[in-house]
Order: sequence, then C-alpha cells, then structure tokens
Amino acid sequence: MSNFDFSTKLGSRRFSNPIFTASGCASSGQELSQFFSLSELGAIVTKSIMTKPRTGRQTPRMAETPSGMLNSIGLQGPGIDVFLENDIPWLLNQQVKIVVSIAGETVDEYGVLARRLRAVSGISAVEVNISCPNVENRGQVFACKPESSIAVIEAVRRNIGGELPIIAKLSPDVTDIVEIAGAVINAGVDGVALINTLLGMVIDVNSMKPKLAGKTGGLSGPAIRPVAVRAIYQVHQAFPKVPIVGMGGVSTGRDAFELVLAGASAISIGTANFGNPIAAINIKQELSELLVEKGFKTFQDAVGFAHRSNE
Ligand code: DHB
Repeated sequence: MSNFDFSTKLGSRRFSNPIFTASGCASSGQELSQFFSLSELGAIVTKSIMTKPRTGRQTPRMAETPSGMLNSIGLQGPGIDVFLENDIPWLLNQQVKIVVSIAGETVDEYGVLARRLRAVSGISAVEVNISCPNVENRGQVFACKPESSIAVIEAVRRNIGGELPIIAKLSPDVTDIVEIAGAVINAGVDGVALINTLLGMVIDVNSMKPKLAGKTGGLSGPAIRPVAVRAIYQVHQAFPKVPIVGMGGVSTGRDAFELVLAGASAISIGTANFGNPIAAINIKQELSELLVEKGFKTFQDAVGFAHRSNE
C-alpha cells in the first residue's frame, strides 16, 4: 500500500488523490469540515457561484426518487463578492486544493466571474457549470449546444489569464455528449466534468401536483451512475488525453472504480454526502484498496482500463 501512487493531474495541477466533492453537495466545505479534515480530499469543488447573491427557487426543492434525489435549488448562493471575502480565505486555511465552480445567466457573466477569479491566488482550477438544469428556460443550459458552450468557454479563457485549468461541466441531457465535449476541448478547456444531473420530475399522486415548487429538478444519486459511466466512456474513447472529472451516483469505492475504468481521472462525490458526511473518506479508502488488490501500482494506470481490455 505504501508504494501506491494515488495522485492525479488536471492540466498543469497535481492532486494528492482523485477524490473530490461534487459542486453543490458540499457548499464551501464548512459543514463537512466538522467530520474530517478537508485536506484529506483531492480537492473541494465549491457550489457554483454567480455574480450576485441569489435566494434560489421556492420550496419544496428536494424530492426522493427510486435510488436517487431530485433537486431544484436554483443556484442559491452569496454571490462572488461575499464568496471571495469569506469562503476563499476560510478554504485557503484548510490546506485543501480548491476548484471554484462558476455559473452565469449570460456569456458576459461567466467572463466577469473569470476576471474576478484571475486575481485570486491559491485556486487549483475553475469548473464552468454550463449545465445547471434549474434555469428559466432550456436556452440557458449552454451545454445543450456546441455554439453556446464554445461562447462561454472562450469568455472564461479570455478573462482568466495565466494557466489556471478550466474544466467544463457538461449535461447528459443531449443527443451526443461527445460533440459538446469536442466543442469545449477545441475552445480550450483543460478537462471536462461528467455528468451534471439529469432533468427529471416527480408528481405526488395524493395532491396530484408536482412535488417540487419549481416543477422540474436535477436527478442525482445511484440511479444515474450507468449514465455517467456511459458518458465518461464515450468521451474518454474520443479524447483519451483529456482529463475527466467523473461523477454521478458514486457511493462506494467500487462505484468510483467503475468511473475510473471508464476513463475518469478524478471522482467527485455528491449525493452520497447527504446520507453520510464521511462518504468521500470511506470511498477514498475503498478505492485505494481495490486498486492495490487489482494489482495497479499507480492510480493513473487504472484510468480508462476498460478501454484497453477491449483491444
Ligand atoms: C442546481 C445546479 C446544478 O448544476 C444541478 O445539477 C442541480 C441543481 C441548482 O442550484 O439548482
């Protein structure tokens, strides 16, 4: 175990291990830090931040589904000013790598957010959330079309400067995710995050009304893992050199291993945190044990292994 190299790379940055939190499922880390030292994570990925404070959608905004969860938070958050003043300094004290997730209503807003982050030292990457399902209309889900995805990534690239890695978070709710991945890769991303939640809906058969006030929401949890594995496999096959941050229904080391075999270079833990705040730590331990048991000397050797065994 002692010789096993669990580190991973995204663009120019190295992380001590591949277990990250998933955006929106750990806020800026304060709550999870009651249960373990955030420095044990490969990175924390913060809740998508926007230019202005937002209260989000009306409640109820969560519903249970078979093996999953439906949510319509509506990008609630303090806005970039408060985030930079409070959350970033706190995180910098935790000795954890920080991936800042950003979201905008327009291409220009992404540019503004990128420019604000440019001045901040100590960030390891920016995740560009172009796939939030809980927006006014589907036209605002930039990741549904190659042209709008490219426009956002180009705005971020222009404004971020330097060599801060850019990761585009994509939606599985498209006909061909490989086409969208190709578009953002051409526009200059250093990696892709796969997958965001799927758009879903639950109707309460007693009240005969939608359970969520916002009607539709993002579906997450174990129910979506096969969709994540498929998306990661397809994108890794098409772009084997581009790092993928994989997520979608991972709650055990075995689940994480499945995404790694499909081609993920890092694994984000989302919905599992809500049931068990130390899920990420357990998954990290289980994944490293599994990799050693399977005879891997480095984590990197396992990334995309399911493709190699098919040759
Ligand atoms: C929200 C954003 C997301 O990207 C997601 O997958 C689910 C919910 C939100 O804030 O509403």
